[in-house]
Amino acid sequence: MGTKVKPYEEKDSSKKEQVAEMFDNIAGRYDLLNHLLSGGIDRRWRKRAIKLISTVKPGSVLDLATGTGDFAIEALKTGANKIVGADISNGMLEIGRQKVKKMGVDNTIELVHGDSENLPFDNDSFDAVTVSFGVRNFENLPSGLEQMRRVLKPDGIALVLELTQPQRFPLKQLYGFYSRVILPFIGRIISKDKSAYTYLPRSIEAFPEGESFLEIMRKIGYLNCYQIKLSGGIAAIYIGRK
Ligand SMILES: C[S@@+](CC[C@H](N)C(=O)[O-])C[C@H]1O[C@@H](n2cnc3c(N)ncnc32)[C@H](O)[C@@H]1O
Repeated sequence: MGTKVKPYEEKDSSKKEQVAEMFDNIAGRYDLLNHLLSGGIDRRWRKRAIKLISTVKPGSVLDLATGTGDFAIEALKTGANKIVGADISNGMLEIGRQKVKKMGVDNTIELVHGDSENLPFDNDSFDAVTVSFGVRNFENLPSGLEQMRRVLKPDGIALVLELTQPQRFPLKQLYGFYSRVILPFIGRIISKDKSAYTYLPRSIEAFPEGESFLEIMRKIGYLNCYQIKLSGGIAAIYIGRK
């Protein structure tokens, strides 16, 4: 399903192991790079996504591939009284825990080690399940989406925010240059991991987007699926209900 693109192609380890290793490597610089390389636009996308979740007034939110917790922190705005963030990278989680503690919201937000493809939660546990910039990194996308649906309560809402490739001139050409030349260059210098920011455009290229992604969600059993394209097709929000 095109999701087998790995960060370190020269190594034999699994995609999951490599993804965790890569995020452990770049954890200390991740937030800085995220905002720098996106020009801060990721914050606007997160806000928009969380507004959509707020409409269902969730009591509990599970944020998968939570990384350093930014999306889980944004989810406070939904008014949920329980927010759990799960990730396979201890390095990312550690930065997230420090942030959450510093903000004094560690009573509401808990960040735990957990694999989205084998979630340590009961069926029908959460009102909303979110993933921002995470599904592209899953080793097995359908099993991650299935697990998300399993832990959602009936009628619960799943939201995926993910990067996509713009299709139209001139954004397509500009984006191609940016993602193949500028992004790996800046990413390598700041993160000190020479593969991480070449993996990023490769993984976006290989990933199903738009209708193809919605079709996968529908096959898994999500209802009322739809997408919202963001910023001329650089990112998209996908929504489905259980
Ligand atoms: C690009 S970061 C996104 C972090 C955060 N959601 C954000 O919006 O900044 C991707 C995260 O997905 C995590 N990840 C990848 N595969 C995972 C899996 N199977 N289960 C849980 N986390 C996973 C990585 O460890 C990494 O922290």
